[in-house]
Amino acid sequence: MTTSTQVTALGLGNMGQALARAFLAHGHPTTVWNRSPAKGDALVAAGARRAGSVADAVAGADLVVVCVVDYAAARQLLEPAAAALHGRTVVNLTADTPDAARDLAAWAADHGVDYLDGSIMTPTITIDTPDAVLIYSGPDDLYRRHAPTLAALGGTQRHLGADPGRAAAFDVALLDFFWTAAAGMTHAFALAKAEGIDDAELVPLAEDLAGLLQASIAEHGERLDGDRYHADVATLATIAAGLDHVVAASERRGLDTSVQLAALAQMRRAIDAGHGGDDHSVLSAVLLAEREAVSTA
Ligand SMILES: NC(=O)c1ccc[n+]([C@@H]2O[C@H](COP(=O)([O-])OP(=O)(O)OC[C@H]3O[C@@H](n4cnc5c(N)ncnc54)[C@H](OP(=O)(O)O)[C@@H]3O)[C@@H](O)[C@H]2O)c1
Repeated sequence: MTTSTQVTALGLGNMGQALARAFLAHGHPTTVWNRSPAKGDALVAAGARRAGSVADAVAGADLVVVCVVDYAAARQLLEPAAAALHGRTVVNLTADTPDAARDLAAWAADHGVDYLDGSIMTPTITIDTPDAVLIYSGPDDLYRRHAPTLAALGGTQRHLGADPGRAAAFDVALLDFFWTAAAGMTHAFALAKAEGIDDAELVPLAEDLAGLLQASIAEHGERLDGDRYHADVATLATIAAGLDHVVAASERRGLDTSVQLAALAQMRRAIDAGHGGDDHSVLSAVLLAEREAVSTA
C-alpha cells in the first residue's frame, strides 16, 4: 500500500537518484534538486518536479531526504535554506562520522528543523528491493511518523536509537569491517597471482575461508562481551607466525605489505602485553585498553 507524501530529494548522485526513483515508484509526489541539474533529467522524465533552488525544493515537502557526498556538502546546501526548512523533517542519508551527524542534528534543532540521521548499508541496486538495508537514529516518534514513507526504499529498515550519531557509528564500524577485510582480499589475489595461481583456482578456497570468517563473527562478539579470551582453536602467537609468512612471501615477490605489517604490529603489541596464548578476539580488547591508556595519559 502506498501513501502519497510529498518528498524532496536533495542530491542526485548515484544513490540520490536511486532514492528519488523509489519514492516516485511508490506514488510519492517527488521534487528533486541537485547542484548539477542535468542529473535530474531522467527523474523529471519519470514524473519528478525539478526545483531551481534548495529553498524552492523544500517548500511544501513533508519529508526532505538528503544524500550527497559528505556532511560538509550537506551543510553547504542546507544552511542557506534554514528559513525554508523551519518546521520540516530532514532525513540525512549521507554517510559521514558520528560526530558530524550529532553536529548537524544540533544545527537542525537550533533552526527548528526535525532531524533524523541515517546510513544506507547496501549499494544503489538494492534500493526498493528486499536486499536494501537502511539504519536510522534520532527521535523515535519522528522515525515512526516517517517510516511509512521511508518504506519505499525497501528491504530492512531499523531505527537504532535517539542519539543522532548512532546510525553513523554503526556505519563506520561496519565499513571498517568490510573494507579492511576487503584490503586483505585484494592483497591475497595479488600474492596468489605473483605465485602463479589463477584467480579462478583461488576463488573457491577463498570463498570457503570467507565462510569461516562469517562463522566467527558471533563468537567474537560473545567473547568480547564476556571478556573471555581462552584460545580453543589457535593462539594469537600462532596466528602472528602465519601472518609473518604472508609478509615474507609478499616481500619476496616485491608486493607492498603495509596493511599486513600494520595487522602484525597490532598482534605483536598484544603478544608483548602477555596475550600470545589467547584467542584472536583479544585484539579488540587490547585496542580498547590502549585507547583508555592514551585518554588517561
Ligand atoms: N553509491 C552507493 O552504492 C552507496 C551505498 C551506500 C551509501 N552511499 C552513500 O551515499 C552518499 C552519496 O553517494 P553517491 O554514490 O550518490 O555519490 P556520488 O554519485 O558521487 O554523488 C555525490 C553527490 O553529492 C553532491 N555534492 C558533492 N559536493 C557537493 C556540494 N558541495 N554541494 C552540493 N552537492 C554536492 C553531488 O552533486 P553534483 O552531481 O553536482 O556533483 C552528487 O549529487 C555517500 O555518502 C555514500 O557514502 C552510497
